[in-house]
Amino acid sequence: MTAVAEKLARLMGLSRQERVFIQVAGYLHDPGKLSTPREILEKAGPLTPEEYSILKKHPYYTFQLLSRIETFQSIVPWASFHHEGLRGDGYPFHLTGEEIPLGSRIIQAADVFTALLEDRPYRKGMSIGEVRSILPEMVKDEQLDGRVIGMLDKNIEEINAAREQSQREILKSFLSMEVDKIEE
Ligand SMILES: [Fe+2]
Repeated sequence: MTAVAEKLARLMGLSRQERVFIQVAGYLHDPGKLSTPREILEKAGPLTPEEYSILKKHPYYTFQLLSRIETFQSIVPWASFHHEGLRGDGYPFHLTGEEIPLGSRIIQAADVFTALLEDRPYRKGMSIGEVRSILPEMVKDEQLDGRVIGMLDKNIEEINAAREQSQREILKSFLSMEVDKIEE
């Protein structure tokens, strides 16, 4: 998702330094999930209301964790507000409109776009066409920012190519680490 967030940030005209911050926020948006039990993260079916309320705490823990690190101050909201909705119906802070900065909206859009395309334990990944039809609905529901999603839609091929490329790179470096381990 970081590659998608970086591309979106570039298209939205963010400065070079802001784009570096977006990448850091992208990499560090979900460490709060360490607080979520694995049975919940990997559950193959729908979550119970109790399980969902535990899962919904993860951005709060991300916020707590990153807030302790002085140099991360500017990226804390970008990393931690990625499940807020523009009408206050997101979590965990129930922020609304202007309280959610552009950086957070970019991370949100990148997170949703990537999540919908990828396989999850409880469903198969969607096609680009399906994702393309769902995103405007989420804008209508004020879950995602219309300008950011408009930009994503206009450049969807290029953004998806960046996503696939970064997945390949991650896989390649993971496999080379495994080869190194075998050779040791
Ligand atoms: Fe998350």
